[in-house]
Amino acid sequence: MTRTAVVTGANQGLGFALARGLATRLASDDLVLLTGRDAGRVAAAADRLAADPATRSRVEDRVLDVSDAGAVAHFVECLGAVDIVLSNAIGPLDPGRPQSEQADVFLDIANGGTHAVLRSFGPVLRPGGRLIVVASSLGTLGHLPEALRPRFDGVPLDDVEKAVEDWRSAIHAGTARAEGWPDWINVPSKVAQVAAVRAVAAERRERDLADGTLVAAVCPGLVDTRASRPWFTDFSQAQTPDQAARAVLALVFADLDPATYGELVRFGRVLPWTGGSPSRHEDLIG
Ligand SMILES: NC(=O)c1ccc[n+]([C@@H]2O[C@H](COP(=O)([O-])OP(=O)(O)OC[C@H]3O[C@@H](n4cnc5c(N)ncnc54)[C@H](OP(=O)(O)O)[C@@H]3O)[C@@H](O)[C@H]2O)c1
Repeated sequence: MTRTAVVTGANQGLGFALARGLATRLASDDLVLLTGRDAGRVAAAADRLAADPATRSRVEDRVLDVSDAGAVAHFVECLGAVDIVLSNAIGPLDPGRPQSEQADVFLDIANGGTHAVLRSFGPVLRPGGRLIVVASSLGTLGHLPEALRPRFDGVPLDDVEKAVEDWRSAIHAGTARAEGWPDWINVPSKVAQVAAVRAVAAERRERDLADGTLVAAVCPGLVDTRASRPWFTDFSQAQTPDQAARAVLALVFADLDPATYGELVRFGRVLPWTGGSPSRHEDLIG
């Protein structure tokens, strides 16, 4: 049977490298859907893959704005079933502007997008499939102050969504800091992404383990991309997107290791959910 793979936010950065890795490893009958929010950028990226001699599978471009839950649901309705979903899209954060001003767009993409992908693609994932959300090592619960952890720990997806919306409201009201939310919005955002994966995984774990299906979050490590470039000065230890894609694709193509199911995985190893500690903004970006 031919396989279908979808990568979100795939016209540049890690997403493009993931789409390229899939297109070189899947079979010629298989289909990689390279998606993103801008038709021109997505078409240009798909053209680059089609022209790459290493590409074996079919590659098609599709517009998919993950911040539009209705559009994601419609996309899935048209698709029917899917074997591999890599939820990777992220919006840029500008260090020159207050993060509170950028929070709405950032949360709509990173968190709204994750929720929409989990809700819409989860039910049409074929047995043996892979549904992987790209998050980061900031996504472990310990990065939040203790008082906020119960909002994300062992709760269903509806409650994760509610926690994100309460946080958004606190940002709008100017009360987020007083409520303990870290100023660096990437921290609660990533914890919420991993919590959302855990919520969905908890519901379908038994069935998925029985048929070799994986739902998980991954941390790609530092990658030299549009998203990371404004925040770091030293990229000597950073991976190229192609290098970072390898560990993610290893999870896609390896046999299922039940220890990774529903977890945040970094270079093949599970990061303990309760790990991490609340940190200052400067510690996280410097
Ligand atoms: N880079 C790192 O060091 C690093 C570290 C840890 C985790 N990560 C994670 O890795 C993933 C990829 O990040 P990256 O560094 O490769 O970022 P990137 O280079 O900035 O690429 C982000 C991609 O997401 C797309 N996108 C933005 N808004 C979208 C929307 N509403 N709908 C669909 N696609 C949208 C962008 O499209 P446009 O080109 O149209 O903007 C772009 O293709 C993210 O989940 C990020 O959190 C990255």
